[in-house]
Amino acid sequence: MGRIVYCQGRFVPEDQARVSIFDRGFLFGDAVYEVTAVLNGSMIDNDLHMARLERSLAALNIPMPMPRAEIERVQAELIGRNGVREGTVYLQVSRGEADRDFVYPVDLPATVIAFTQARRLTGTKGQTEGVAVDLAPDPRWARRDIKTTMLLGQVMAKVEARKRHFDDVWLVGEDGFVTEGASSTAFIVTRDGRIRTRANSQTVLAGCTRRALLRLCEEEGTSIEEEPFTPQDAQSAAEAFLTSASSFVMPVVRIGDATIGDGRPGPLTRRLQALYFDTALGTAASRHAAAP
Ligand code: PDD
Repeated sequence: MGRIVYCQGRFVPEDQARVSIFDRGFLFGDAVYEVTAVLNGSMIDNDLHMARLERSLAALNIPMPMPRAEIERVQAELIGRNGVREGTVYLQVSRGEADRDFVYPVDLPATVIAFTQARRLTGTKGQTEGVAVDLAPDPRWARRDIKTTMLLGQVMAKVEARKRHFDDVWLVGEDGFVTEGASSTAFIVTRDGRIRTRANSQTVLAGCTRRALLRLCEEEGTSIEEEPFTPQDAQSAAEAFLTSASSFVMPVVRIGDATIGDGRPGPLTRRLQALYFDTALGTAASRHAAAP
């Protein structure tokens, strides 16, 4: 591996990065994070990720550890130093280090770490052929709008889904409606052609890719209904897809034991996938053109 990572104000080889055992991120999951896609060496929708980082921190009463522009410089420097053309950049801010106590001291200096993961996001098997998602009860806490590192519910659900030979899992809330994917936003296209995704609230994470896609659809006059749907609605849908920073618009071709459409990515999904991808690539290209 041998990446350069960012840890507590310094760029260091990954095997030299250290965080205290008293860090509250480690002891309590008292930390938030963002994952931003990198295409052609440029970050995609990072303004949306920075805005959500600020919202997550504010919800937990953790001050922004440094100005937004400085965080963006750290992310860009990691991408540059590690020569990442395609992949993700992970950023985590924890409340900081203190002796173990549920009630945190005020004004702790936050712990900030970041690292890149070079990997293919485009042209993958999932992108071209679609993925299969399992359905499982949503095991998480009630503030899913805060992007915290408390991800054990998602870890357990994803591992269980893999054991059952699914690629991923969509979670179902106590209200009987699909909340979201374990690390993505869930969408269906109904048989009469309506695109549906659950509205943002405390029950789901407000996806940045979702937000960007909704904006693009609005610009071209394609409407997306922000309405919840049940597992039965999903299993009888004409098409389905999920969105996230690391999967963009990913076709879903099987939900539980139901094949969606003819088992191949649907035409509307394909079109939205291309729309999002072309815009992201265009943004990445224009950033390069604007760079000194
Ligand atoms: N997860 N919902 C959940 C629970 C998520 O964890 C994510 C992203 C999303 C999609 O959000 P966005 O479009 O902003 O990536 C929705 C990231 C990718 C992760 O944890 O790796």
